[in-house]
Amino acid sequence: MRISERIDATMAAAIKAGQGGVAPAKLAAALEYAVTPGGARIRPTILTSVAMACGDDRPELTNAAAVALEVIHCASLVHDDLPCFDDADLRRGKPALHRAYSEPLAVLAGDSLIIMGFQILARAAGDAPARALNLIDILGTRTGMPFGICAGQGWESEENIDLSAYHQAKTGALFIAATQMGAVAAGQEAEPWEELGARIGEAFQVADDLRDALCDEDTLGKPAGQDDLHGRPNAVASYGVAGAVKRFDDILGGAISSIPACPGEAALAQMVRAYADKLVPAGARGRSTVPGE
Ligand code: IPE
Ligand code: IPE
Ligand code: MG
Ligand code: MG
Repeated sequence: MRISERIDATMAAAIKAGQGGVAPAKLAAALEYAVTPGGARIRPTILTSVAMACGDDRPELTNAAAVALEVIHCASLVHDDLPCFDDADLRRGKPALHRAYSEPLAVLAGDSLIIMGFQILARAAGDAPARALNLIDILGTRTGMPFGICAGQGWESEENIDLSAYHQAKTGALFIAATQMGAVAAGQEAEPWEELGARIGEAFQVADDLRDALCDEDTLGKPAGQDDLHGRPNAVASYGVAGAVKRFDDILGGAISSIPACPGEAALAQMVRAYADKLVPAGARGRSTVPGE
């Protein structure tokens, strides 16, 4: 089965489980709205690819880990779009959840998906409870305080932002979760996989800054020019377009050389390269090196 099919099937089952019984109909529908269409699904794809590179001896646990991570990512986007955060009207090419439903339902859908992420892992423990506990721990670390998305979003309420801590927690955390959870689902240690996740996350943030600066709303499926609008520090403002592209290439090179030794090392490197090619917007290469242009 292809990685995308594994993710889609497990995601559909998880959402269906969340909609069962005599659940409130609008919130039940909102859960599905938050996870479809799926966006790039880059985090669960990386997680599954790492698990496969490590042997993937418990595919059901890998699928659970991938979807647990992705529902939390989707929840973070629902909350991020709320008026009290970025006040964004569009997500993945359709109205943001609070626009399509309501603010209370967006808060509740995000909350429900975060809880669902941990529940998916608890229920997938089977005969590998130690792995499942470790997965729950990693996912919690990279979601909450002080190292997770909550911390990342929290930096936006500070007068002085520590840019590196902000980016590491806001974006890097779930990429570290992706590589570490992939390894743990396949019975490997988490620690050697942290660097790869951190580097992919850093490269992803630079590419996201490039897309935000260079692409339009139709291409992105979400509002463009947000970094400028909110006055957020970003790679294009700091290094210029060409400088940001060079930074992306440098970080990615480091990411690939940090892949720990494992049976599927070469295939994993190829997968990271193939995904990276799609991240930098067409037209970003070959531009001026002067910041601000
Ligand atoms: C968007 O992530 C949020 C950031 C951390 C920049 P993605 O670009 O992975 O969003 P989807 O899941 O593909 O929509
Ligand atoms: C969202 O970050 C990432 C989260 C941790 C929720 P941004 O606000 O920078 O990303 P987009 O542009 O809305 O996807
Ligand atoms: Mg935001
Ligand atoms: Mg946002």
